[in-house]
Amino acid sequence: MTRRTLLIAANWKMNPAPAGFDAADSPFRKDGDIDVFVFPASLDIAKCVSAGIITGGQCGRRESSGAFTGDVSMTMLKAAGCASVLCGHSERRKFHGETDQAVGEQVKAAIDAGLTPIACVGETLSEREEGKTFDVVKKQISSLPPEISIIAYEPVWAIGTGKSATAAQAQEVHAYIRTLLKNPCRIIYGGSLNVANAKELLSQPDIDGGLIGGASLKIEEFHSIVNTARTLK
Ligand code: 13P
Repeated sequence: MTRRTLLIAANWKMNPAPAGFDAADSPFRKDGDIDVFVFPASLDIAKCVSAGIITGGQCGRRESSGAFTGDVSMTMLKAAGCASVLCGHSERRKFHGETDQAVGEQVKAAIDAGLTPIACVGETLSEREEGKTFDVVKKQISSLPPEISIIAYEPVWAIGTGKSATAAQAQEVHAYIRTLLKNPCRIIYGGSLNVANAKELLSQPDIDGGLIGGASLKIEEFHSIVNTARTLK
């Protein structure tokens, strides 16, 4: 089987764009062999788009406009030049109360707007310890429309903790997620992915890339993860 094209995505969260992000040799630019997406803070979307970077929103509302102070819509992201959007990142679920149903509606609105959404799923530490990982991701995925083409498995306990899932733990959940999907889909891993663990994680047969937070803010580190991915294409 030919390998699905690897996708390496940077989620800068609520941080400024790293210095040099728009340089000619920036690792945030699409590489011939692999896909690279960047998810900046909303205020930095325009400068990423004008730098020719494949850009996405970190969240978007399903309504196209209206009285929703502080929000941006999927159609606005598209009009601003975005290609993608994150839906249901665990930080949105936690700090903004986004439910599985709301995430499913966002994904549908994103597709309707012409964006490629990345739906984020993943269990908390207590859910894993209680043996509920598969149940949790199954429920999260059951709310998504079948057209979803990229899912990020991000175990909540691995995000920003420096404690990545092992390659075996991640592969197990990715393979399970694949059994739940009707259509072909890329399934990328997120949660303390870094230079040291990138090769092993990205070599797993059901891991089609990474969604990277902390290490994407360090341009050298991100560069070396992109280079690793390129060798595995
Ligand atoms: P870290 O890479 O900082 O753990 O963040 C992962 C993440 O949340 C990407 O969306």
